[in-house]
Amino acid sequence: MHLKRFTRGAVRDKRVLVRVDFNVPLANGEVTDDTRIRESLPTLIRLLDYGACPVLVSHLGRPGGKVDPRLTLAPVSGCLEQLLKKVEADLTRVEFVPDCIGEKVQEALRKWIPGEVILLENTRFYAEEEANDESFAREMAAPFDAFVSDAFGMAHRAHASNVGVTRFLPSYAGLLIEREVSALSRLLHSPERPFCVVLGGKKVSDKLPLLLGLRGRADLVLVGGAMMFTLARAAGFSVGKSLVEERLVEKCRELIEIYRRSSSALVMPTDVVVADDAASPTVVRNVRLSEIGAEDIGVDIGEEARWLFSEHIASAHTIFWNGPMGIFELKPFHLGTMAVAEAIAANNRAFSVVGGGESVQALAQLRLSERVSHVSTGGGASLAMVAGNDLPGLNALQVEAD
Ligand code: 3PG
Repeated sequence: MHLKRFTRGAVRDKRVLVRVDFNVPLANGEVTDDTRIRESLPTLIRLLDYGACPVLVSHLGRPGGKVDPRLTLAPVSGCLEQLLKKVEADLTRVEFVPDCIGEKVQEALRKWIPGEVILLENTRFYAEEEANDESFAREMAAPFDAFVSDAFGMAHRAHASNVGVTRFLPSYAGLLIEREVSALSRLLHSPERPFCVVLGGKKVSDKLPLLLGLRGRADLVLVGGAMMFTLARAAGFSVGKSLVEERLVEKCRELIEIYRRSSSALVMPTDVVVADDAASPTVVRNVRLSEIGAEDIGVDIGEEARWLFSEHIASAHTIFWNGPMGIFELKPFHLGTMAVAEAIAANNRAFSVVGGGESVQALAQLRLSERVSHVSTGGGASLAMVAGNDLPGLNALQVEAD
């Protein structure tokens, strides 16, 4: 994939709308994980260095097209200013504008001074954003001369602020998108084999299309997390009171059959950790997958599965991991996730990519982030790319073939 890069000439003295993914976790009005903000800095620094007036726009959470004061980007603006000041001597300030279209944006642009970065309010306060409404996109693009997208985390969405605006402005890829695409393309096009994918998380509904897309691409797909119980039920196991998406059991049965007939192996844990209560357990046991009791709730992959998954990961040459293996925020149900993180970090011969909030968080907690080849800022977006899906947020950023 060849992406359009912005040059000094394309942005100097220009008003540049920059789509970032600042969908970051907040607690009591504070940013609790600033990874996505830090990852946007190289593009911002380059734009400032090239003499552009950068105006950032992002979504935050899912306010459903209505103003929700809990999801304002105002706290992100302070965090961005602190981070930028550490690395960009010429930065004057980050100015927050409480709207993403209209007069307030125009006014901030009139008052703009060199070295200033402007951050606009949450795009999802308008229903037109997710509908990719054309007139909303036109209005958003109107005050600008160029568009740079660095929002890899939402490149699998086709919204007004990442796709719609590209119809009205010369559009370029930012440096984060370039980095993400370059790393993930290695998994997509002739990955060094064996290629091992580790998938976890709560819902099989989020991952089903991707599991289908991975068939034939990955050699092994190791499945953990609560999503494994819908697959286990489909494979004929009793899973007690574990989380099962009933409406998907039949689809999972078909998926298992599709994998059986393909060159990829779908690997389920041989054993699991079960508890009597997921939130405040009094009884915790390690049982075979075939021996889950009627009252048991599955909370993690088991001891043998930890070992088996680690062995598969150790012999892989390419690895992609998305989603925790169990309720990792609750000890002792973190062991499966930790085992996977450690096994990936220990395989320094493999090209390894980790995506998705909780997997990235587990890696950071173990201080292993530096030991994998690439930590992606995109959960759904990285999965979609690895599964070979079209990412609408990247389409307009590509160099057109002759
Ligand atoms: C993400 O966090 O995965 C992206 O920002 C996309 O968010 P969404 O799933 O709410 O569209």
